[in-house]
Amino acid sequence: MELSTASDVLTVHGGTALSGEVRVRGAKNLVPKAMVAALLGHGTSVLHNVPQISDVRIVTGLLEAHGVSVTRGAPGADGEPSDTLILDPASVEQASDTAVEAHAGTSRIPVLFCGPLLHRLGRAFIPDLGGCKIGDRPIDFHLDALRAFGAVVEKRPEGLLISAPERLRGTQIRLPYPSVGATEQVLLTAVLAEGVTELSNAATEPEIVDLIAVLQKMGAIISVHNGRVIRIIGVDQLGGFTHRAIPDRLETASWACAALATGGDIRVIGAAQGEMMTFLNVFRRIGGDFEVDDTPGEPSIRFWHSGGQMRALALETDVYPGLSTDWQQPLVVALTQAHGLSIIHETVYEQRLGFTDALNRMGAQIQLYRECLGGSACRFGQRNFMHSAVISGPTKLHGAELTIPDLRAGFSYLIAALAAQGTSTVHGISLIRRGYEDFEAKLSALGADVELGLGA
Ligand code: EPU
Repeated sequence: MELSTASDVLTVHGGTALSGEVRVRGAKNLVPKAMVAALLGHGTSVLHNVPQISDVRIVTGLLEAHGVSVTRGAPGADGEPSDTLILDPASVEQASDTAVEAHAGTSRIPVLFCGPLLHRLGRAFIPDLGGCKIGDRPIDFHLDALRAFGAVVEKRPEGLLISAPERLRGTQIRLPYPSVGATEQVLLTAVLAEGVTELSNAATEPEIVDLIAVLQKMGAIISVHNGRVIRIIGVDQLGGFTHRAIPDRLETASWACAALATGGDIRVIGAAQGEMMTFLNVFRRIGGDFEVDDTPGEPSIRFWHSGGQMRALALETDVYPGLSTDWQQPLVVALTQAHGLSIIHETVYEQRLGFTDALNRMGAQIQLYRECLGGSACRFGQRNFMHSAVISGPTKLHGAELTIPDLRAGFSYLIAALAAQGTSTVHGISLIRRGYEDFEAKLSALGADVELGLGA
């Protein structure tokens, strides 16, 4: 096990039902991309509802390296930091390769800088990517799309050098799979390309629709058609935008599962029903209760468990409007408390169930399979990937020493540790900071008994 610093370890004393209110802000999987979009504009952009998470800090650093000024709005009267970012791309310039390399291995977002940088500077240097290790995570769809626009891609040991010898041209692209990132790559590139781009087999996650809204505000012409087709008519110039990011539906589901697994009651302020419907159906079928409050300006969803038996279920993750792969891990923890056999079929990432080993060490009974269980055959079916799980419940969980493998699994370990009897030591919590704003304070406010470091 890797040694971790005190600030990277959380000691969790389990067994408390979490109760109270937390606030979610803008979606982690939209905000950094809207920030990249600001690079395409000739005016200043203003983005509201920005969480303080490390993915935002990484993209801020990369934008600044390219001459974009990124500032936070003034703090509120109560001294609370502002959740508004002001992005001014007036002085965009080529970043030094060293400044870009400093961000190698930190996030998947840098690859989305390609289109905007090619349009503005004719050249993009992209460091080796990071992000969660939940599968191979290739970027072949991105690079094929960029080539189709006329870009030249050169692979170098320290990263990718991409150039546009002339203005990029609109094109026809069919993605082999509805990839979120590759769809965003095409959008961010096509908006300023010459002529029309037609993208088929596109992803249509709510965060993509919100990115389209941002681009439309900037002056782009984008239409979404039946059957996963997106058409973009390139324009010569874009302006800035003012936008409020959609709420983080993935963080919301994490808090919902924390309420369910600990027998608690959590109101998630800022959460909206629209993007959560598939999750809410599953939550109800397992035995969770929820109540939606649509108050304008301050929507919320309250999640609780009224104490009856939780029910086992067969679930399959899929691209939107299917069940998000990022909802899978917290649901798995909740399902360890359900009566009977639950089946999970993970069809988006080939290796996103490895985190269940640690849950088994805590007392769960989860068995992994290579076969496609409980649903249709997926891309991983005839290959050597443990991508289905059978969970036998309910099982009592006990505390353990845990090392976080990735963002969503990391938060799920916290849920498991909170639902368990005894003390858990969770290493690597900085990974959770990538996507969950101020989660230690939120946990404490909900009554969780947690402390930074190895505990007394
Ligand atoms: N894929 C390829 N080639 C590519 C691109 C993708 O084979 O060029 C494959 C991937 O390996 C994967 C599948 O396509 O099997 C889907 O990947 P996708 O491109 O949709 O994922 P992503 O854009 O890299 C985003 C989110 C993920 C989320 C997925 C799916 C961001 C920064 N990340 O990743 O979020 O799981 O879409 O919805 O938006 C998270 O929030 O914890 C997280 C991992």
